[in-house]
Amino acid sequence: MIKLTNISKYYDYSSGRTYALRNVSLTIDQGESVAIVGKSGAGKTTLLNIIGGLDTFQEGSYFWKDQDLSKLSDSRLAKFRNESVGFVIQDFALVPHKTALFNVMLPMYFDKTPHKLMKPMALESLDQMEISHLANKKVSVLSGGEKQRVAIARAIVKKPKVILADEPTGALDAATGKSVMEALMDLNHRGVTLLIVTHDKDVASYCDRQIVLGDGQVKHDRKNYAIKTE
Ligand SMILES: Nc1ncnc2c1ncn2[C@@H]1O[C@H](COP(=O)(O)OP(=O)(O)OP(=O)(O)O)[C@@H](O)[C@H]1O
Ligand SMILES: [Mg+2]
Repeated sequence: MIKLTNISKYYDYSSGRTYALRNVSLTIDQGESVAIVGKSGAGKTTLLNIIGGLDTFQEGSYFWKDQDLSKLSDSRLAKFRNESVGFVIQDFALVPHKTALFNVMLPMYFDKTPHKLMKPMALESLDQMEISHLANKKVSVLSGGEKQRVAIARAIVKKPKVILADEPTGALDAATGKSVMEALMDLNHRGVTLLIVTHDKDVASYCDRQIVLGDGQVKHDRKNYAIKTE
């Protein structure tokens, strides 16, 4: 479903070229859960953003099903992002003085979702994250774990096939992080493909597969059961 071939992304400075990703090739199938791990600066966020169509690359190819994403115009790419992927960003990127319900409805203001469907769809996804009772609370008064659930509810409101999450538990205590991971895995068990960037071994161990990045390259790519039995 996702096929990257020899992707390189670099930044040119007067002092020379820095590679964020170098010759990255990988295939991700529908329904997989994948942890992307590696040191700070290894290229994890860059990889996630390229997969989500938020960032571009200079070399290589990226196919989403049969579609060559590098050939899409900006407007078609925006449509792809809006329809196919759900992002969970590290600092949540919620509007603090608005309600949880408003925040979850937000992505639908930018597309053609019929107005009367917006509220029921947002309530359904809040319910899926078990926070429908918080729908009318302002995000600014919610706890970190509750905010993270609102961010996930927003990411899933349009039923994307893929969820991309950058450190979804990074700001949470262990117990709250566990419950957020369980909610994400629940979505995965319903068929949503999950890509999670994490520094946390426990978080990574929930996933079927781990991709270890180092210096912009794939250092290891293995099924989790192999790691657990090492
Ligand atoms: N906009 C940019 N301009 C210049 N260099 C950049 C830019 N974005 C990323 N980089 C560089 O690309 C490399 C990979 O960055 P990336 O953000 O993907 O790392 P990361 O693995 O997500 O790190 P972290 O764990 O700290 O979030 C780093 O060396 C970074 O400095
Ligand atoms: Mg990062």
